[in-house]
Amino acid sequence: MKLLVWLITACWAILLATDTRAQDAPNPLIGSHLYRSYCLVCHGADGKNPGSVASNLGLTPADLSSPQYQTKNVQDLAAVISGYRDQKGSDMPNWGMVLTATDLLDIAAYISNISRTDLRFIGDTRRGRAIFKRACVACHGKIGTGEGLLAHLFGISMMDFTQSENMKQIGDENLMSMIRDGKGDYMPSWKGILSDSEIADVAAYVRMLAR
Ligand code: HEC
Ligand code: HEC
Repeated sequence: MKLLVWLITACWAILLATDTRAQDAPNPLIGSHLYRSYCLVCHGADGKNPGSVASNLGLTPADLSSPQYQTKNVQDLAAVISGYRDQKGSDMPNWGMVLTATDLLDIAAYISNISRTDLRFIGDTRRGRAIFKRACVACHGKIGTGEGLLAHLFGISMMDFTQSENMKQIGDENLMSMIRDGKGDYMPSWKGILSDSEIADVAAYVRMLAR
């Protein structure tokens, strides 16, 4: 028994020590706000159907919902948006002159998910990511596949959050209430530990994990 307690403590210590980059992740929630201000007039709400300015000026913006932009390489996409990649003679504004590097990454993080009809920002995904790293990774694994250290240790299995087919079955309210109230023998209740808005944040992040 003592050994088990020691093992669990050691696991937590390792997890906490490796939780350093969480704050740096691009924030697609903020990206969605910037997109509405700067991009929607030409690229449209869905990134596909041109917005009012593009129609009036007769421009044909790139279809941002096409697979090449639904990428995990947010850095590259941000570089494309910045215009530093040669876009001479293009009608696409040079956003690197206007927006900060952080803005560009946040927008790229949003665009790289724009074609997903199930993506809803019920909370702040970046804050959610930090919470997930701290509180959920031990069981659910780094990217939510269900392969965390404790899951291996106890031999428990759980849903793979990266499978969008499964995740679509769970509504937002249900997702949040399972996190709030816990489930079965191993999924702890986070009521009183995480605030309602933190639960919404981590739920939004869990949504982002599905592809
Ligand atoms: C004035 C209209 C306009 C606005 C505003 C605008 N775009 Fe564009 N965008 C275009 C046009 C037109 C193209 C196609 C350019 C071409 O084919 O030469 C384009 C192309 C792109 C591409 C593809 C570039 C490539 O080389 O693959 C990306 C990505 C993009 N826009 C993102 C954005 C983002 C993000 C914003 C907001 C920060 C934005 N655009 C705002 C008109 C606009
Ligand atoms: C000690 C291990 C453990 C930790 C820590 C943990 N979970 Fe779980 N979680 C589980 C297990 C096991 C299940 C499956 C429960 C079942 O189906 O009986 C589960 C189920 C879930 C479900 C429901 C999915 C389904 O199977 O229906 C969600 C959502 C969830 N967890 C989110 C979280 C979030 C978010 C955190 C962090 C705040 C977290 N979990 C922390 C073990 C854990």
